[in-house]
Amino acid sequence: MKVLECKKLMKVYDSYKGVEAVKALNNISFQVEEGEFVGIMGPSGSGKTTLLNILSGIDNATSGEVFINTINIIKMKRDKLALFRRRNIGFVFQEFNLLDSLNVRENIGFPLAVDKIKPNIIDDKVKELLDFLDIMNIEKSYPYNISGGQKQRVAVARALASDPKIIFADEPTGNLDSKSSMNIMRIFKKINDEKKATIVMVTHDPFAASFCKRIIFIKDGAIRLEINSDGDRKKFFDKVIESQGVIGGEQ
Ligand SMILES: Nc1ncnc2c1ncn2[C@@H]1O[C@H](COP(=O)(O)OP(=O)(O)O)[C@@H](O)[C@H]1O
Ligand SMILES: [Mg+2]
Repeated sequence: MKVLECKKLMKVYDSYKGVEAVKALNNISFQVEEGEFVGIMGPSGSGKTTLLNILSGIDNATSGEVFINTINIIKMKRDKLALFRRRNIGFVFQEFNLLDSLNVRENIGFPLAVDKIKPNIIDDKVKELLDFLDIMNIEKSYPYNISGGQKQRVAVARALASDPKIIFADEPTGNLDSKSSMNIMRIFKKINDEKKATIVMVTHDPFAASFCKRIIFIKDGAIRLEINSDGDRKKFFDKVIESQGVIGGEQ
């Protein structure tokens, strides 16, 4: 089943204060099937963040269409989109974006609390996720008292809380050391393997990308290349490096 489809996406950032208009996305179309783990790579400024923000309904496209589970989110009204996003989309950010005034438990349950889910149901879900991500020991801690790697695991748990149809991640290892990056990528792989979650991840890190099953390379806002893994991560890592060379530009 198709979980995500985008058609002819265009994004132009209008000119302002003498800065020229930027065509950030130029006719992007692709599909993601249920259970896929797709990477999006490309040089700095190629449009990766713009693309992810439009696919997840954070930003508006200039033109084109985005379907999540066959529902066109481009035409959705603001309130309905907010609700749709909360129930169907999980998002993991480079900067974690946890709420400092809430502890780990409360951060993970936050999207469900906003959705007015019953407290005992939230408790069960949070407990399951604390266990799944092996962070039971920090459930009462606050974001400022835990490491970057732990923060990102909490953010992943929060993204999973509503059992989303699709998880988007923008440079999830961008603020992590190599050991924590390895940890987070193993978690993404586990979510994909065991929960059959569909994941779309932007990264410029070939190591993180090597965990994906498919990678779409973009440059100057357009798709330039697509590669598939045969399941051998080390071999795919080499293929990613080679493809980056083909695409060129500052990563
Ligand atoms: N809010 C914005 N206003 C104007 N231009 C922007 C804005 N966000 C991004 N851009 C421009 O759009 C292009 C793509 O940016 P971005 O999607 O952030 O790329 P990436 O994530 O691949 O580094 C760049 O040229 C960038 O300068
Ligand atoms: Mg970016």
